[in-house]
Amino acid sequence: MDTSEKTIENLLSQMTLKEKIGQLNQAGSTMTCTLPGFEADIDGWVTQMLEGRLSQEEFGRRIAMCEENLREDEIASGSLGNFVNLYDDEKVAAVQKIACEESRMHIPLFIGVDVMRGYRTVFPTPLALSCSWDLQAVRESTAVAKREAYVSGVNWTFGPMLDIARDARWGRIVESPGEDPYLASEIGKVQVETFQEEEADGCRLMATAKHFLAYGAASGGQDYNTVEISRHTLYDVYLPPFQAAIDAGAGAVMSAFHDLEGTPCTMSRWLLTDLLRKQMGFDGFVVSDAEAVKQCVVHGTAADERDAAKKCLLAGGDMDMSSLDYVRYLEELVESGEVSEKDIDRAAGRVLKKKLEFGLFDRGYQYDPEKIQKTVLCSEHRRISLEVGKKSAVLLKNNGVLPIGKEAKKILIIGELADDKDAHMGPWSFTGVKEAQVTILQGMKDCAPEETEIIYARGFGVNDDRSGFEEALSLAREADFVIAVAGETAFMSGEAASRADLHLVGAQEEFLEKLSETGVPAAVVLINGRPLAIGSLQENDGIGAILEAWHLGTEMGHAVAQILYGDYNPSGRLSVTFANEGGQEPMYYNHPNTGKPGGSFKFTSKYQDVPIRPLYPFGYGLSYTGFEYSDLEVENPVLKKDQTLKVKVVVKNIGERSGEETVQLYIRDITASLVRPVKELKRFAKIRLEAGEMGRVEFSLPCSEMGFHDSDGTFVVEPGKFMVYVGGSSEQTLDAEYELV
Ligand code: BGC
Repeated sequence: MDTSEKTIENLLSQMTLKEKIGQLNQAGSTMTCTLPGFEADIDGWVTQMLEGRLSQEEFGRRIAMCEENLREDEIASGSLGNFVNLYDDEKVAAVQKIACEESRMHIPLFIGVDVMRGYRTVFPTPLALSCSWDLQAVRESTAVAKREAYVSGVNWTFGPMLDIARDARWGRIVESPGEDPYLASEIGKVQVETFQEEEADGCRLMATAKHFLAYGAASGGQDYNTVEISRHTLYDVYLPPFQAAIDAGAGAVMSAFHDLEGTPCTMSRWLLTDLLRKQMGFDGFVVSDAEAVKQCVVHGTAADERDAAKKCLLAGGDMDMSSLDYVRYLEELVESGEVSEKDIDRAAGRVLKKKLEFGLFDRGYQYDPEKIQKTVLCSEHRRISLEVGKKSAVLLKNNGVLPIGKEAKKILIIGELADDKDAHMGPWSFTGVKEAQVTILQGMKDCAPEETEIIYARGFGVNDDRSGFEEALSLAREADFVIAVAGETAFMSGEAASRADLHLVGAQEEFLEKLSETGVPAAVVLINGRPLAIGSLQENDGIGAILEAWHLGTEMGHAVAQILYGDYNPSGRLSVTFANEGGQEPMYYNHPNTGKPGGSFKFTSKYQDVPIRPLYPFGYGLSYTGFEYSDLEVENPVLKKDQTLKVKVVVKNIGERSGEETVQLYIRDITASLVRPVKELKRFAKIRLEAGEMGRVEFSLPCSEMGFHDSDGTFVVEPGKFMVYVGGSSEQTLDAEYELV
């Protein structure tokens, strides 16, 4: 459809001020209780449910007693142009129908949903997915999410989330693509391209790069907290994934909740206009995070909500998500002359342009329940979820107990989480279908050889209840193999789920210690959202293996079972560092060098009470085979700024099965005008090798990618000495020197 300035001007010229402001307004439905004398306290119920004080079933029962207000009148009058987080297909269709058929201008709604990890078919959490280091897996899972959401009437996703996360205490690390700007940029780019690419039948979603900017740097890892960060770190670490998303054409950017340099991101003109539009070249529209406009009053940077609406709009915030402040106050702000109609036109024009570009007008209102039924959770989508799930799990430890041998005839599965569907689905899976979820217990039953008996004992949960210990331990003594499933429930990570302590909660460690004393071969499977402080499991010889399985989504049970049985050779590599203790956070591999790097000498940078090295470094992950690196070769060790570094390495599969290795290339600038990271990932490649097979991997890295931002934001590539490292993790590399002249 024609998206020229002229078409948009023409559209705007037919709209009233109210209707234009309606395009800047996004809201969700509201609930009221229908039973007399019973007050609906949705926020309270949500809190109680997330804290485990109200069961999900009871929550659902109460919600069912509420009446949902879909804001039909607001849509019909043109004062609500966009809907947020409506999951019911029929309701989505109903609101879209009103906008397309009953509103005066017939402008379709943007229906925005957090399509973060699939839609009805659930995929691994973004953090888990980034551990696949597999861009094809990213593409395939995003394509399924897009198709399922699109047929269900959604046309806009609040993703990808591109916040670099260096602190495992931060609950939203689970939604992030990890700690590395390069890996995150590669993933973000593929996600934006895939979401937005139009398929033959028009299927596409507009993508949102969020949360702009540096939300992951929340002080102390505490959600929504203030961010203190230097400009060059902001530019070098937090900005690249957003730049990649913008270059890939992301239609929207979501401004973050927190304040940066003292200004809430949602009302920062420097961020939303100078940096985002002028420097980064963004031409879509900016949506605030939920209620972030009115939160400016709470921050203390706006006198009241009217003032917040004015400041956020003038800063460059085009759409207000859920505060309803734009729709309440912009009209009178225009009347009083504090905001000009031109400002409204500019913002509304940006929104309309994207509605045209993403085919909303062409599609109009459509509802095809049969098509939805056929599409969502179809066997092909489940197959892709399974494949991607297997690629996302990371084998952290294995002293030889895995894969489980066929001789294990009696396998005991222990742990409440092993049969907890919500935990397998994990955070940000609201659109998922719980009934379709395969648990580890189920997956093991489905995958075990016929003559193998799979038994289950609750044993322990994520609490202090020790009443199941005895029974589980005595069953363990009689089993050939034990799988203990430990970790976190679905709501222990995600938004507003920061934690100060990274140890396994409750009596989990205590149980695992007792289990290890039985002497029965045992593997721990972790279901969790964040890196945990699991040094005690790593050190305990009675725990033969640890599989970091995160929250893998719908097919999790089958994915885990296939890995445990060796039908799939684990290939995931960590996209985040595992610290030994929460007190070491933020701990990340690409840190600047100190003048006294940690070592055995007392006066060096380290904690006295924990190892200097992380428990598991960035890039780490085991396989059932082994890989050996040799013959690192730099073809051109002296190069000019406009040249490209060429590096070769030989990788050999030295084990007895075929497997996939992720070959990682890092560099370090050793003579620079600013202190540079000790290592920076610049390239990676996946290589599949048969047992005994040798492969050669070649990398090209233009010198233009070896630079950094100085304190005033200028990107510089400086001559001098560099190191290049190639290997299977950030800590296991071969190295060579080269020079930029
Ligand atoms: C989150 C966003 C999300 C929005 C809508 C907010 O609380 O921070 O990431 O897109 O809600 O669900």
